[in-house]
Amino acid sequence: MTQAPLPVPTDVLAPLTELPEWKRFVVAAQTCPSQTDGLDLVEAPGLTLDASGQRHSSDLLAAGEALLRARGFGEQRRRLLAGETVNVTENRAAWHTVLRAPTAPADVQAERERMDAWVRRADAERRWRHIVHVGIGGSDWGVRLAVSAFGYAGTWRDVRFVANIDGHAIEGGLAGLDPRDTLVVLVSKSFTTSETLENGARAREWLLAAGLDPAEHMAAVTAQPERARAWGIPDTQIFRLWDWVGGRFSVWSAVSLTTALSVGADVLAGLRMGAAAMDTHFAQAPLSANAPVRMALAGIVNRSILGQGSLNIAPYDSRLANLVPYVQQLDMESLGKSVDQAGRPVGVPTGPAVWGMPGTDAQHTFFQWMHQGSDGAPVDFILCSQADHHWAQHHRQLLANCLAQREALMRGKTLAQARAECLAEGLSPEQADWLAPHRAHPGGRPNHLIVLPRLSPYSLGALLALYEHRVFTQGVIWGIDPFDQWGVEYGKVLARGIVQALAPASGTVAQADAHDVSTCHWIRQLRG
Ligand code: F6P
Repeated sequence: MTQAPLPVPTDVLAPLTELPEWKRFVVAAQTCPSQTDGLDLVEAPGLTLDASGQRHSSDLLAAGEALLRARGFGEQRRRLLAGETVNVTENRAAWHTVLRAPTAPADVQAERERMDAWVRRADAERRWRHIVHVGIGGSDWGVRLAVSAFGYAGTWRDVRFVANIDGHAIEGGLAGLDPRDTLVVLVSKSFTTSETLENGARAREWLLAAGLDPAEHMAAVTAQPERARAWGIPDTQIFRLWDWVGGRFSVWSAVSLTTALSVGADVLAGLRMGAAAMDTHFAQAPLSANAPVRMALAGIVNRSILGQGSLNIAPYDSRLANLVPYVQQLDMESLGKSVDQAGRPVGVPTGPAVWGMPGTDAQHTFFQWMHQGSDGAPVDFILCSQADHHWAQHHRQLLANCLAQREALMRGKTLAQARAECLAEGLSPEQADWLAPHRAHPGGRPNHLIVLPRLSPYSLGALLALYEHRVFTQGVIWGIDPFDQWGVEYGKVLARGIVQALAPASGTVAQADAHDVSTCHWIRQLRG
């Protein structure tokens, strides 16, 4: 909800496309080679960014730095990190960085310690063999990611995630569990999200049906503790969030209670440490050696100048499957906007569609389209130098596949090379002429390679903060507010009306002006 008072910003930046720095950046991007032969590595805490697969020239980098200066990037970054208002349409800070700062304000520190102590006590008592984590979007993906990244081989507490309003989700989430040894963790910053409250209500009924007191089996994480209290959850089991933490930036907070209960409070501490190190790098590294900044500049070139409509995330580590929806929400909810902070059209295409799947599965699913389809997409390849299993041949093959796919996307194969290959295989010149176009690759597809030494909490924390700051920096260049999500709110409002219209006794559907013709038809068909 909008916070009052809501000051209309007066110190707005000039429209992006009118800036001479933008024009210079566009020309530099259009005139630089698609890839250079040089190695372009950026070292950052917990990872190395290889930007060799992106458009790069000293001219483009200098133009990018000038553009950032023209957009007031230094001041915007300072405001972000100092907890000043950066989310202008909701008139609040987006101070997720303080949640992982080694020295946090007293209330943040106290809440960290209170949750750690609660988890330690539950561990010491060996309580809760089963955790049902109920939350959606930012109250879900980061926890799923951490639990699958570090609990992939199983944890002593069995964790189920329930997000979707589809009743099959909660039915499956509770099925077979012993309610006496189950903790239901309700995570909702607003504590108004219908999916979470409905699923929580089913879990509460399930506990009651087993003759248990839900107050003893439920915990809540929210910025609205009074709503959780009204739900019957005791204060000792309500953990706090703050208004100034965006849902998709909240993994560093008590939202990760389930992470601490399943893979350990140390994992959460490690995630925070890695992210805090990336914050320092983002704040201090020169722009040319600043990993989030370099990724952001490449992202702007790919989206706004080369017109690439999507970004593929390809983690070559099956434990990072949930990184894809995590970054998808982070990026698309933040940058899926077309007006700047002054309410003017940005004037160039903004946030891309983000999608992906872990390699090597992705290779057998959609990489054909990436190699030879008419559009293709820039790719972020992510790999870990070391594996945590003992099968060296698996890891060698995984690494080889990642490097090979990337090389094929970058180098491509000319028609002449494809034809020569066909001839070398013994085909006739006529056959080679016909087959060569099918076997040629355009190449020059932009990509990043992000290498973690191994998948540790520290390196994953750094990786997530890298993406957060990349998104923020792109928001600064486009001039948009990356911290609101008004588009999602509209659908929620419409859904409330349709839920009522779908109820058997409802007469509201007859109002033709309430919905379009097709929606009215389906409300009548589906009512019941
Ligand atoms: O999808 C909209 C959204 O508001 C996200 O930004 C948020 O992460 C999610 O819903 C869940 O919200 P809450 O934590 O308030 O239940």
